[in-house]
Amino acid sequence: MKTIISKIDNRQLNNDVIKKAGNILQEGGLVAFPTETVYGLGADALNENAAKKIYAAKGRPSDNPLIIHITSMGALEKIVSHIPAAARIVAKKYWPGPLTMIFNKSGIVPYGTTGGLDTVAVRMPSHEIACAVIEAGGGYIAAPSANTSGRPSPTRAEHVEADLKGKIDMIVDGGPVEIGVESTILDMSLTPPMILRPGAVTKEMLEELLGEVAVDAALFDEDSKKAPKAPGMKYRHYAPKAKLCVVEGDEAAVVKEINRITDESMREGKKVGIIGTQETVGNYLNGVVKCIGTRQDEATIANHLYAVLREFDEENVDCILSEAFSESGIGDAVMNRLLKAAGYHIIQV
Ligand code: TXA
Ligand code: MG
Repeated sequence: MKTIISKIDNRQLNNDVIKKAGNILQEGGLVAFPTETVYGLGADALNENAAKKIYAAKGRPSDNPLIIHITSMGALEKIVSHIPAAARIVAKKYWPGPLTMIFNKSGIVPYGTTGGLDTVAVRMPSHEIACAVIEAGGGYIAAPSANTSGRPSPTRAEHVEADLKGKIDMIVDGGPVEIGVESTILDMSLTPPMILRPGAVTKEMLEELLGEVAVDAALFDEDSKKAPKAPGMKYRHYAPKAKLCVVEGDEAAVVKEINRITDESMREGKKVGIIGTQETVGNYLNGVVKCIGTRQDEATIANHLYAVLREFDEENVDCILSEAFSESGIGDAVMNRLLKAAGYHIIQV
């Protein structure tokens, strides 16, 4: 399959590109497009065959449900059986934005989109290109992250191209995304509402609106006997090719330990990657050192996380050592993804 790749400027949308993307979606094809979180791989959510193509292109297990992207509350009413009052409050504050809510689905949503579930995940993104593509495509666009299953989510069109070129109809290239980690998932079909995946809209932000908010117990606990409630969270997602290990503790001690392990591994003939911050990169003596952002602003770390993991894949390192990051604000989502990528391999110093 030939994949059309079209660059588009967020500040001045090219209508021909949006129209083309919309036509492909309406005909049951696949179009990757940017959102504020990560790039999504879109298909008409109400067309079961179109949604099925997503699973084939990504190599995604068919029990892993898709998020439906919309641009209005009117669209939400059509695809869910009931909108709880609490969900309206959350939507008013955080939609459009990096938040997905789960509802009981209505009859028009095919089981092929929800992985056989009676619930449906819905998000209203804020990214202008995403909104234009969703509307042109008919208003209900299923879109998982536009990566091959098991690889880090794409934060630039080049990442989508590397994974899916030749397997999808079109990539709308709107440049790098703003946030860099996937949306928060909040299950509104449970009481109290439960966070199934942390993201830019944090537990504290939601508690301020809703009072009590639960967090899926399976999220941070590798030993949990319970399966996570978001089916996709059970897979070893976000996995770089190299073995990843997170080193946690006092800054100076972390640097010292990473330098020690690096030297030891290099003596064994291994190529070592190091993930440091602006504050520390100058202190690493050997290995392939990458700066992920600054501790002064956790958002910069979220923004570069997946790109750095992909770069290490390309450089064929044998192992990656990463500093641990603060878990406040969006850092919660960063550490969730990083620890998953590491298979929960942490060294405390
Ligand atoms: O930021 C995002 O959410 C991006 C952009 C493209 O919008 N999308 C995204 O989709 O991350 P995906 O498919 O990579 O992740 C969706 C997650 C999966 O873990 C899936 O299992 C969960 O949402 N999910 C979807 N529907 C669900 C449902 N009905 N119940 C529980 N979990 C659900
Ligand atoms: Mg994904």
